[in-house]
Amino acid sequence: MCGIVGYIGDGQAVPIILESLKMLEYRGYDSAGVTIFNGSLETYKIAGRIKNLEDIIPENVNGSTGIGHTRWATHGKPETRNAHPHISSNVSVVHNGIIENYMQLKERLTGLGYEFKSDTDTEVIAHLLHFNMNCNGKKYLLDGLTETIKELEGSYAIAALCAEEPGILAFARKDSPLVIGIGNGSNYAASDVTAFLKHTKEVIYINDNEIGLLKPDSIDIFDLDGNSISRDTETIEWTLEAAEKAGYEHFMLKEIHEQPTSIQNTFAGKLSELEGTVTLDELYLERDEIKRLKRVTIIACGTSWNAGILGKYLFEKLAGLHTDVETASEFRYSNPVLCGEELTIAITQSGETADTLAAVRSSSSYGCRSIAITNVVGSTITRESDSVLYTRSGPEIGVAATKTFTAQLVALYMLAIHLGRIRGVVSANEAKDLIVGMKRLPGQIQKILNKKEMIKECAAQFADKRDCFFIGRYLNYPVALEGALKLKEISYIHAEGYAAGELKHGPLALITDETPVVAIATRGHTYEKILSNIKEVKARNATVIAVADDDDTEIDKYVDIVLRVPSSHELLAPVLSSVVLQLLSYYTALAKDCSIDKPRNLAKSVTVE
Ligand code: F6R
Repeated sequence: MCGIVGYIGDGQAVPIILESLKMLEYRGYDSAGVTIFNGSLETYKIAGRIKNLEDIIPENVNGSTGIGHTRWATHGKPETRNAHPHISSNVSVVHNGIIENYMQLKERLTGLGYEFKSDTDTEVIAHLLHFNMNCNGKKYLLDGLTETIKELEGSYAIAALCAEEPGILAFARKDSPLVIGIGNGSNYAASDVTAFLKHTKEVIYINDNEIGLLKPDSIDIFDLDGNSISRDTETIEWTLEAAEKAGYEHFMLKEIHEQPTSIQNTFAGKLSELEGTVTLDELYLERDEIKRLKRVTIIACGTSWNAGILGKYLFEKLAGLHTDVETASEFRYSNPVLCGEELTIAITQSGETADTLAAVRSSSSYGCRSIAITNVVGSTITRESDSVLYTRSGPEIGVAATKTFTAQLVALYMLAIHLGRIRGVVSANEAKDLIVGMKRLPGQIQKILNKKEMIKECAAQFADKRDCFFIGRYLNYPVALEGALKLKEISYIHAEGYAAGELKHGPLALITDETPVVAIATRGHTYEKILSNIKEVKARNATVIAVADDDDTEIDKYVDIVLRVPSSHELLAPVLSSVVLQLLSYYTALAKDCSIDKPRNLAKSVTVE
């Protein structure tokens, strides 16, 4: 996730764009840049926050047309050379999204003599645009951009300038947000309305596969065949603060709603449904090395550790690999027995958790190969590990991890399938089923989000309770752990996640009519077993809330409330159930008027021991 802006009008572009970028910093803040039309195109960019950019733009940069970008790295480290805008001779481009076929395009453009200066996927857009504007005779920016986006696979919101066409700003969109602000003698383009809300509340939302031109006093939108599109303007009613959260009351709720996109971005360009394979070239793992592996050790903390438990089940089932999941703070002070023919997987959304970093260093000292699963390009863990698998969720501002957790699950599915295919444990057909199922997850999550009112009503069951339990078996056990962690951290209700079969070994003593129990009971080979556990707690008068498949009518006989998820592949259901539990925690904390985005005593990134 990044933020893009464009301005064209009668004012000074530099202060307007810098101010807009600051409003979009929540979308990414690892580097920033601008191109201003000041007689020619002048570009300034730098690693770090907008403040750094402000410091390097000379005072005499006057110009009333410009584009800007604030970056959250997906391809290439957060360094100045990877910051946007990207330039190809006389064109300049900013981009939010992921170009899935950038490697093929890069190869082709390199063959045509283009020299790449960054590691980003975006730079191919700049060179391709320049090429398309100059091959077979000179073309205008709009025609060049139309041809360019026809060759792009993936997601993009683009703003582009050409030195030979002053007074024109081109834009295009597919699967990344783009909105136009209509001013008086000035127009704006941005990833969201916060960027220009101070100047105008009149907007036009650009749809997928649309392209257009901004001039100071006109806005033209076209489809890919060049047909003109007319679109009504809308008036934004939000305040600036609400707009930053896209109208959601909290960042956590916004981030829960971003999961269809964050999951899609995490697997984009990696899944082949046809061949039943997952391509993870970024791991640099040789086939022989994968075949020789004896064991996997997963190291993580908190929510990431919960994801690790699911990883254990996946690696064992799909890749036939014995897997241990270690709490980083314990692992670093233990005496692990490691031999070298094993893989260490560090899961950390921030990439900065001190205990996880120390534990990875310790495992590396035994000669184990390490892979990091993280959301932050360039974070410390990316330097401490041999290779990195990124979750492409964009910045997560709410302290409680939501979209990064489900993206970690997706990363683990991909890794398990990849290892399992090479080790000959999972068949092509089984892998195909899983891949088809993974591709359905964004749509299925959207269905859950569309019916969140039911979950909101259910949250009333918890708001006045002191304790509650979350139970699950097998793959639903980590879902129970994560459901409980989420509830306790944002609502301050004491919640315990338990393997359902363990209840009778102690915790059953705590079950009363004052202790709600959430049972994760999606279908699978432990379904009948969890029904028995539900009966056990019902017999102790607990109110039971089940998370179950949408076509499961059996469960209604045993529980008080059913929260439904779309039926899915058994292995994938944890992603869907987790979204339900995130919403349940959110609405419980809301009913209790808690500080949802900044729970007491907690920090987003735990860089101390
Ligand atoms: C809970 C939460 C924490 C983190 C933990 C590890 O919602 O966010 O439990 O999961 O502090 O953080 P990372 O994943 O950054 O290593």
